This record gives sequence, structure tokens and C-alpha cells, in this order.
Amino acid sequence: MSRITVENVTRRYGGTKAVDGVSLDIADGEFLVLLGPSGCGKSTLLRAIAGLLAPSEGRILVDGRDVTDIPARGRDLAMVFQSYALYPHLTVARNIGFPLRARRVRRAEIRQRVTEVAEILDLSALLDRRPRELSGGQRQRVALGRALVRDPGAFLMDEPLSNLDAQLRTATRTEITELHRRLGRTFIYVTHDQVEAMTMATSVAVLNKGRLEQIGSPTDVYDQPASAFVAAFLGSPPMNLLDAELALRDGQLHAVAPGVNVALGIETTTAGTAAGRAIQLGIRPEHLVATTATAVVADSTGAGHAGLRGTIRTVENLGSEEIAHCVLGTAEVRVRARRPAGFTAGDAITLDVRPEHTHLFDRDSGRRLAWQPDEDQAGSIPSARVPVTT
Ligand SMILES: Nc1ncnc2c1ncn2[C@@H]1O[C@H](COP(=O)(O)OP(=O)(O)O)[C@@H](O)[C@H]1O
Ligand SMILES: [Mg+2]
Repeated sequence: MSRITVENVTRRYGGTKAVDGVSLDIADGEFLVLLGPSGCGKSTLLRAIAGLLAPSEGRILVDGRDVTDIPARGRDLAMVFQSYALYPHLTVARNIGFPLRARRVRRAEIRQRVTEVAEILDLSALLDRRPRELSGGQRQRVALGRALVRDPGAFLMDEPLSNLDAQLRTATRTEITELHRRLGRTFIYVTHDQVEAMTMATSVAVLNKGRLEQIGSPTDVYDQPASAFVAAFLGSPPMNLLDAELALRDGQLHAVAPGVNVALGIETTTAGTAAGRAIQLGIRPEHLVATTATAVVADSTGAGHAGLRGTIRTVENLGSEEIAHCVLGTAEVRVRARRPAGFTAGDAITLDVRPEHTHLFDRDSGRRLAWQPDEDQAGSIPSARVPVTT
């Protein structure tokens, strides 16, 4: 069994920090996805966990035991790489059995383990072939088999699907998810693909420039992104982020910008320190709903109408849905709706969003803003609230 703890791990290359003070507690049996753009430190962190490189600072623990100074082979973890790294001159059976031969396991036992693993991975008919006689997907399964045969406490995978074509990726994604369920082992899986993270993970850790932005279930990171970075990294298309200001209008706090006047569902008699605050307003494309235009005339500040108002620039047909790219003032938003949505390029459009579907981020730090009672005024004006950064 493997619970893996990463304590304040930093890895430097010269003056730059590839991984910067990351802490993670990965429960036994979890499927943790390390997600982030290329160069954010995913592989470096995974290799530190595997024991393939040493952290500059911090500790790695497996089941509470400090393994920071223990080499890879002493950690009971198996690594699957993006390049399958199979031995070209060995058969599938011998490739899968390789780690056991290296450990001098008895031949009969090796044969039995290889047979079992081949069955799990649907490779039984291919055991006598060599890697060059296999498709990319089959090679990937052999690489998985080589990890599986050792029955390690945890599996570490670095972008294992990135060499596969789109269709095979989807199929192998499902296979790995099922494998995880069947084995009940800890999986740590690196990807830059947010769809893989959303569909496979029990827990997603989003990395940005070596730092941990957020960790949570796929639902958490999608529905409650802790930062504008996370908001913009997840979703297809990602969350719309609009520069706006907070303002008090008709006893309600609004986010306003040219073409934008969105009620945030916070009733208050005073905007307190919130008024005029520079924020980013986040709205997912699927939460913007086209409404029929009303007769209200919008001015350049967005006053005079509720919602968002702009022009459709282009429309993309995705088959079941369509995406409208809309220009609002100087900003642009994407709207996603089931087809036929009736979007036409060049048309004016008025959009609505429910208050519970709005997200606020601090313009400078990018951190999510949560509403909390204003302690100073709580006695006299109980409804007054100010945003604080979480
Ligand atoms: N061996 C190395 N020497 C110098 N810099 C490195 C080395 N390995 C990685 N880096 C740098 O560390 C950062 C993180 O790299 P990496 O962990 O491979 O990112 P990811 O896997 O998320 O794409 C990058 O800026 C990369 O250039
Ligand atoms: Mg990488």
C-alpha cells in the first residue's frame, strides 16, 4: 500500500526553480493527476517522487517512511514513461518479465506473472511478438505491463498517452481508469491535457511555474477554481475572464465593464471597500445564455442594462454544440450552446448569467475572491460584506 507525501519539495536548475515548494499528501489508492502547461515542473516533480532525481529541498515519504535519500529501486514504485522504452530485440513476454528477471525471480513464477498481466492488458495473443510488430497502443500496454508485473505499491506515469492518436487516447484513457479501479493502487499521472485530468483523476493538482496552484477533485477545480490560472486552464473552451470593476447598483453588487453589467447575487446597502475594486470576472462558456435583446440602451460603461451585450464575431460548429465568439467592448467571450443555437456572425447578442455562475478573481494576484462579512461593520450593517482573497 502506498500513501505518498511530498513535503515542501523544491528542485533548482541553476538559478531557476523547476519545482518550487510543493507539498502534496496522496492517499493510498488515489488517482492523482499532476496537471499544467509544458515546462511547469510536472516531470521534475514526478521524477523526484520516483527517486530518479534528488530534490534540492524538502522530503518525500512513502507510507510515512522518509525515502528522500533512497534510490528508485528501493521505493516500491513503478514508472511508465511517455517513450515506451521497450527493448526492441526482446519479445513482449520478455519485455514484460524483464523487471522480474532483473530481480532474479524464479522462472516459473515469472511465466505465471507475465501470463496474468498479459490477460489483464489483453496482450495474451501478442506475447511472442517484438515491439516493432505492435501498434502504438499495444506498445503502451506492454510498457504498462512491465510496471504491473512487479506489483508495485504505486504507479507513476508521465504523459503515457501523448504518442497515441486521438481515438486510441480516449480508449486507453478508459483502460487506465479501469485498471486503477481494479488494482486499487495509488496512481500518479502527469499530463498537460485537462480532459485526461477531468476524466481520470480522483484528485487533480494544478501546477504553474513550479508552484502548486490548487489541489482538489475534478469537480472542485472546475467549479471552484482557486485562481484565474486554474479557471483558464480547465474547460474547452476555458473560462471567460473579463477585466471589470465592482460597483453598487440598486442595492446589489455588480461587475461592470464596457458592455458588461452583471449582478453578483450579493445584496448590500453598501459596497464598502469593494466599490471600484479591479477584478476579473470569470464565466464559463456554458453558463452564458443568449437572451432576446431588450429595448434598454446600453451606454459605454455597461450601465442601463443587465448582463452582457456585444456582437458575434465568428461561430464554430462542434457537431452537438456550437461556440460563438462574441466581442464586448474591448473584450471577447466565448459562448457554448447546444446546436442549433441560432448564432449568426455579425449579429448583436445579449447574454445573461446566473449570479451563482459568476467567479471573481483579484486583478493583481489572480486569486479567487470569496465574500466574507466585514468585521468592522458587522454590528451596524450586517449585510455589508467585503471581498477577501483566499
Ligand atoms: N535537466 C534539466 N536541466 C535544466 N533545466 C531543466 C532540466 N529539466 C527540466 N528543466 C527545466 O525545468 C522546468 C520544468 O521542466 P519539466 O519538469 O520537464 O516540465 P513539464 O514536465 O511540466 O513540461 C522547465 O523550465 C525545464 O526547462
Ligand atoms: Mg514533462
